Amino acid sequence: MGTLNRRDFLSSAAASAALGTLVSSTFGIQDSPAIDGPIAISSANGLRATAKAVEMVSQGADTLDAVIAGVNIVEEDPNDMSVGYGGLPNEEGIVELDSCVMHGPTCEAGAVAAIRNIKTPSRVAQLVMQRTDHVMIVGEGALRFARAHGFAETNLLTDKARKAWLRWKEQHSDSDDWIPAEKSGFGDSRSDVASKLPFTYGTITCSVLAPNGQMSGVTTTSGLSYKIPGRIGDSPIIGAGLFVDNEVGAAGATGRGEAVIKICGSHTVVEAMRHGMSPEEACLHAIKQIAKTTKIKRLRRKDGKPNFDVKMYALSKEGQFGAASIWSGAKFAVYEGGRNRLEDCAHLYTRDS
Ligand code: GLY
Repeated sequence: MGTLNRRDFLSSAAASAALGTLVSSTFGIQDSPAIDGPIAISSANGLRATAKAVEMVSQGADTLDAVIAGVNIVEEDPNDMSVGYGGLPNEEGIVELDSCVMHGPTCEAGAVAAIRNIKTPSRVAQLVMQRTDHVMIVGEGALRFARAHGFAETNLLTDKARKAWLRWKEQHSDSDDWIPAEKSGFGDSRSDVASKLPFTYGTITCSVLAPNGQMSGVTTTSGLSYKIPGRIGDSPIIGAGLFVDNEVGAAGATGRGEAVIKICGSHTVVEAMRHGMSPEEACLHAIKQIAKTTKIKRLRRKDGKPNFDVKMYALSKEGQFGAASIWSGAKFAVYEGGRNRLEDCAHLYTRDS
């Protein structure tokens, strides 16, 4: 008793190894990658998010709490018209927000879509993950769920966004009764007429890798500006606007959500990394798939290239990172090696001047 023969030893070693793998993949306890400190990647509007996420992870915070705190800064910023408070509204002038989160260590996810009146949908998505047996709650149900958890309600339509929406409403059709100032016969006497019409698929996505190998990600947006009420893009859809696999890496997307959904963009990127591509190669792989599958004429230019943009962002388990867009000129935010900065995305096509 108490002694193991060689065969028993080998099978018990194999069992321990298998158990170790199971424990590590269940709880996200993995070998530390060779990185000096946390690494965070985000869309170009996410420099404050990457800084916050790295700061919190450095202080020992959970990776998901860290990325959510990072994007909360942008969700609450009225000047970012693509996310949260101040985001551009739907065609009825009502702001509807989408968000999802993924927690690498537990392999859990949560999402809300078309939620109104709540500045920080990412925090509601986290509670869907933590405090329900569901992954996604939408619309009125999402708002009621947020109310139940004590979230304050706010009119998310800022004056700046209202003026942009009003301008869109007044000028998008000649066959309705809304008249833009310049065609009214009364001139542009009001100083509050928006001069330029903002239009966006803009979004923020942020992922972080901690030195202990744990990863999480979040994507949050006000979605397509002036959309049909209830329209949901890629941002709240796990596998489209975001995907995290604690053993491989994380990916997120911004840009035309309809295109990202159709190729399961973020999942495609993570799977490409699993099969050996670098983050940048994996992002380009997904971007090429979007270009290839854009066959419908109204979405293509005369030369056949897509007439919209999508950007994919990726961070690998080993601490490599990269991003790619359909069109040149895009940037992404990264905090790595103690430096927070914007870098160029790789691209498929060079933008015409
Ligand atoms: N990527 C954001 C959206 O399409 O809603």
